[in-house]
Amino acid sequence: MEDSLNKPFEELKVKIENKKARIAIVGLGQVGLPTALSFVNSGYNVTGVDTNEELINKISNGMSPFQEKNLQEFIKNSQKSERFHVSTKIDESVENSNIIIVCVATPITKDIKPDMTSLKSVCDSLSKCDLNGKLILVESSLPPGTFEGLVIPFIRKSNQICWSCYVPERLVPGHAFSEIKTTSRIIGELDTESGILARELYKTIVQAEIILTTFRVAEISKLVENTYRDVNIALANEIGIICEVYGIDFNELSRVCNSHPRVNLHQPGPGVGGPCLPKDPYLLLNPFNSEQIKSDIILNARKFNDKMPDHVFSLIKRALLEKNKKIENSVISVLGTAYKANVSDTRSSPAEKIIKQLLDLGCNVKVNDPNTEAGFGGLYEKNILNTVKKSDLVVILTDHDEYKKLDLHILSDSMNENPILVDTKRVFDKKEADTAGFLYVSVGYHNLKEEIN
Ligand SMILES: NC(=O)c1ccc[n+]([C@@H]2O[C@H](COP(=O)([O-])OP(=O)(O)OC[C@H]3O[C@@H](n4cnc5c(N)ncnc54)[C@H](O)[C@@H]3O)[C@@H](O)[C@H]2O)c1
Repeated sequence: MEDSLNKPFEELKVKIENKKARIAIVGLGQVGLPTALSFVNSGYNVTGVDTNEELINKISNGMSPFQEKNLQEFIKNSQKSERFHVSTKIDESVENSNIIIVCVATPITKDIKPDMTSLKSVCDSLSKCDLNGKLILVESSLPPGTFEGLVIPFIRKSNQICWSCYVPERLVPGHAFSEIKTTSRIIGELDTESGILARELYKTIVQAEIILTTFRVAEISKLVENTYRDVNIALANEIGIICEVYGIDFNELSRVCNSHPRVNLHQPGPGVGGPCLPKDPYLLLNPFNSEQIKSDIILNARKFNDKMPDHVFSLIKRALLEKNKKIENSVISVLGTAYKANVSDTRSSPAEKIIKQLLDLGCNVKVNDPNTEAGFGGLYEKNILNTVKKSDLVVILTDHDEYKKLDLHILSDSMNENPILVDTKRVFDKKEADTAGFLYVSVGYHNLKEEIN
């Protein structure tokens, strides 16, 4: 009796071990596509499912739908292998697969509540499929309680034998493939069998430790990791502003403080963007189908980081005044609209708010980013030097590698008189900027006069 009960489990386990299990990845965004291609690369047959037809067409034509290191190469190799297919049809893809991995977005709404629309739609589709003998995994970040309250009721139907785990993704965009391989992986198991199957599967793409835990801990761990970073960045931002008040340089302060074995100050900057950090603390505090949890530190840190673009805007205005430049009609070059270095993603980028404030004030805003043409209303210019030419002020909002290679003398020579550099990411050394004739301003260091209103 026990043998026959265990048969579907053993069959799937053997299929996973022999790479004969067919995988469907639902949601081919920054997480889903690199995950799908990692499994193809390790020898599995994978179908990538997405509702976005434009994205599906791009991938079918061998094009990268977004900036990601080695993505183009992985897409080409997967096409050669003939083990990767893409589709907009979830039902068909699920029916033809043994393993389903859900990687759809789980954003927040305008009124800062978790938006589970995509996840609900996927769960609804799954509930109409025959899930017998299948392993269903969820990688999307979830508000605590969602796996148990939303996912499981949809997929666990009577008389069906299937397995499920919550396997949060921890990758950093831009380095997805290496991160999938080298970052330890958390598996939140629903039961022992589910955990065994998920571990067998992820072992084939992860070279780091695989940590099994309960699905409840796994769900919260993902959100706490990002909350930890958000709070630490907020602390660095606040200390940066304190440094400005005291007239000392944050970089020097952190060099000294971080020599302490138990201190690791993060770096201040223009604010926090991207698909995860600005929303995961809110997911943490908004359990599935329950009231928001009260928080003193996490919510205030979030709000503090959200206000950093206003601080940068104020630094820009003060620097222009200091050099007797008229704020209205001044020419400002914004370098970097992606939310972080060497990616094309502009989701929740601090650049958007800063550019909007500058435009509202009547500034002439030129924008460059080597990885995205998003200008947020500013005039996009592909060439960095053309962007900077005849500007009054350059503000660096993203520390792309391309910017690190710039020669400050060439920049200042091409700009209007009394050039200003607002280097929110500390790409350049202050002394180097002084030598090139810049008024140098950063978050965490400047020599500007009193705050203006
Ligand atoms: N991007 C990251 O760096 C990162 C890192 C770790 C975890 N996460 C989490 O992973 C999840 C996915 O994030 P992402 O950045 O890849 O999102 P994304 O927006 O880049 O991609 C999601 C994809 O899902 C597709 N989709 C939406 N509804 C669908 C449906 N019903 N059926 C099929 N496809 C559908 C969308 O068209 C989109 O292509 C989120 O929960 C996110 O918080 C993201």
